[in-house]
Amino acid sequence: MKVEFVSAAGAAEILVVLVHEGRKLAGTGAGHDKAASGSLVKAMAASRFTGRSDSTLTVASPVGVDAGSIVLSGLGEADKVDDAAVETAAGTAYHAVKLSGSAALTFDATALSPEQAARAGFAVRLAAYRFDKYRTKQKPEKIPSLEMIRIITTDVKAAQAAFAPMSAVADGVLFARDLVAEPANVLYPVEFARRVKALESLGLEVEILGEAQLKKLGMRTLLAVGQGSRRDSQVAIMKWNGGKKGDQPIAFVGKGVTFDTGGISLKQPEGMEDMKWDMGGAAAVSGLMHALAGRKAKVNAVGVIGLVENMPDGDAQRPGDVVISMSGQSVEVINTDAEGRLVLADCLWYTQERFKPKFMIDLATLTGAIIVSLGMDYAGVFSNSDEVANPILAAGTKVGENFWRLPLPPQYEKHIDSPIADVKNMGNGRAGASITAALFLQRFVNETPWAHLDIAATAWVNKSTRATVPDGAVGFGVRALDRMVADTYEAG
Ligand code: BES
Ligand code: MN
Ligand code: ZN
Repeated sequence: MKVEFVSAAGAAEILVVLVHEGRKLAGTGAGHDKAASGSLVKAMAASRFTGRSDSTLTVASPVGVDAGSIVLSGLGEADKVDDAAVETAAGTAYHAVKLSGSAALTFDATALSPEQAARAGFAVRLAAYRFDKYRTKQKPEKIPSLEMIRIITTDVKAAQAAFAPMSAVADGVLFARDLVAEPANVLYPVEFARRVKALESLGLEVEILGEAQLKKLGMRTLLAVGQGSRRDSQVAIMKWNGGKKGDQPIAFVGKGVTFDTGGISLKQPEGMEDMKWDMGGAAAVSGLMHALAGRKAKVNAVGVIGLVENMPDGDAQRPGDVVISMSGQSVEVINTDAEGRLVLADCLWYTQERFKPKFMIDLATLTGAIIVSLGMDYAGVFSNSDEVANPILAAGTKVGENFWRLPLPPQYEKHIDSPIADVKNMGNGRAGASITAALFLQRFVNETPWAHLDIAATAWVNKSTRATVPDGAVGFGVRALDRMVADTYEAG
């Protein structure tokens, strides 16, 4: 999707005009209505369209206006136009006309600030995402025709300047979505690492560790997960040095299970195909690093992702195996399907030992139980530090990614004590299973401020209710963490 900012536009195939709740035409909307001999006001009066957020009304071929059609898009209450309202108005307008046959959309953002005009362009980039590279027989009328949006704004320079960093964030989200959507026969650990290595073109430093190096480092719990797979396990390390030289970095760690069969504790077939997106945490970390580099964030950041495939095989690890993690703690593997925590245990330990970060945040599609606890619209937050958790919650609210904090109760520690080893990889059956998973991770965190984000519910969406998030891969976490970094670690 091409995004352009202009101070005025001539003839338009499709013109989007914003409307506040109460059928109030925003910005130069009244002028368009006048030119169209009042047909916009008439069309609204004859319909249920009120300017409510997330609704549109299309007025075809209005006489007197140089536009094939005018799409009225709701901004909601005039005194409550926040980022979400702008994104929704732009995203819904896009969806209303994407199949119209027109290639270009003119969007009247004169009622908005230049920053909000930029946000409209950002929203349309996110809304227009599709993953259809494997569809060879789409009906032409089902393929979006819209290729570019021309945004009319009161200050072109300011809108362009505001758009550049937003567009970099969109690039990061789209990169993450592509990784998440890719099937596991195409995206296995080495291929994932290859795609991440290519981010060096953005100015990131990327190191890829193969199995020999991981063995040397002692990442045995990570390697144990991948040992049943024909595909080699990998760890990718991305570094962005946009901050002061020598400044302690902030760190992000991602679970990258490119496919999770459950291993010897094999999953049931129904829904197993979903486990291609069991690398959503690693995708979010990669998308975030893409975004930080793309907008040249003034911060030092590292991203560490553990890439493995969890398969049943003659070489696969068994329930009951005891494995010594990189930290030196022994782990009894009760259930080979609780593999994400084994991957993260070594990645978290490695990250804090090597980088001594200010804090580390891990993202993982870790437990089905988080879906039971919070439903499909919330990611769980577990943290040993309010200073890390609170900015994540705040940033999530700003960008429309929902987080809810859950406890790390010391009295549940006993559920992951093992009779034979230091810790076991499963808790008390289904009771508090997301919490015992988080407590397991915490055993591999020293004094480092840390947060764990369980994104099993939110990495993928089947029936999206948000205009900027098409069905499928969400890229969940990229926006919230980018915003958290910007608001908390670049502000000064
Ligand atoms: N990748 C899954 C978690 C998951 C399940 C994500 C459903 C998205 C949708 C994870 O590796 C897993 O299998 N967890 C088990 C843990 C259990 C064996 C302790 C689970 O949640 O059932
Ligand atoms: Mn699993
Ligand atoms: Zn998994």
